[in-house]
Amino acid sequence: MSDAQPANSFDSQTDKARRWARDNFTADELSALFTEETPRPELPDTLAEAAVQALNTANSKEKARLSLLIAKHWQENGFAEVGTAMPADEPAREAEPELVPPAKVPRRKINRSVAGRTALLHALCHIELHAINLCWDIIARFTAIPMPKGFYDDWVGIAEDEARHHLMLCERLEELGSRYGAMAAHDGLWQAADVTKADLKARLAIVPMVLEARGLDVTPGMIEKLQAAEDFNSSARLDIIYDEEITHVARGKRWFELLCEREGTEPIETWQKLVMKYFRGSVKSPFNIEGRDLANFPIDFYGPIADL
Ligand SMILES: [Fe+2]
Ligand SMILES: [Fe+2]
Repeated sequence: MSDAQPANSFDSQTDKARRWARDNFTADELSALFTEETPRPELPDTLAEAAVQALNTANSKEKARLSLLIAKHWQENGFAEVGTAMPADEPAREAEPELVPPAKVPRRKINRSVAGRTALLHALCHIELHAINLCWDIIARFTAIPMPKGFYDDWVGIAEDEARHHLMLCERLEELGSRYGAMAAHDGLWQAADVTKADLKARLAIVPMVLEARGLDVTPGMIEKLQAAEDFNSSARLDIIYDEEITHVARGKRWFELLCEREGTEPIETWQKLVMKYFRGSVKSPFNIEGRDLANFPIDFYGPIADL
């Protein structure tokens, strides 16, 4: 972020949060992530094998650090090729957090008490871990479909963002005296991946264009509540996540549209049909139309099937 940012472009609380974020998350020091206790893993020759390696890593921080390493290696053209490697049906995970049905996940008011804020951050931290897994699964599972290099660039870049998001939230949970795994989390998150495992177009229709777009709807309200509780440290982290999630929705939609173009199908109608077929819940309003528009995802897609 530039120092030349006009003073009136954010209200004072957002400005404070953004200043904090700028000071704490500008340097992406990969080398600092690997120490004697957390040694640098060896990488395989191909991107798909590396993606499966990340999926098979059970410890969440290890998975996130490995994801950052794979991303850097890909961006420096370190892999021989995309290659092939088939992921298992479910990514590896540790015994904690305990997985429970969505209704049993602890929900508390977001206020000055630490309990509510840690419950929120824990739920988000779990979603970010799931998002890392989804990226590597998309990369490895569909290599039989010829996709341009830009597709892999995008998904590796998104995995890198999600890994950073997970680590940022792990760090914040620890600052607040908790940790990822300390609370129950819900077990429904992999369902969207499972039902779309044979269809890349359906995977793109659901994961970035339903689930991540939903994140755009709910995150601004969470940021506001954290700011009202004067937890600018947490709100700043969500602020970064929000901005980056806009780009994930945009990139997912771009590749969805490429597949529609290849098949000669109309994207809006195709998306609506796939959502009705594969998405278990409803596409819930109210929508953050402004955020969705920034992701180049217009209401013509989701408006007609809202809350059905
Ligand atoms: Fe994320
Ligand atoms: Fe994302």
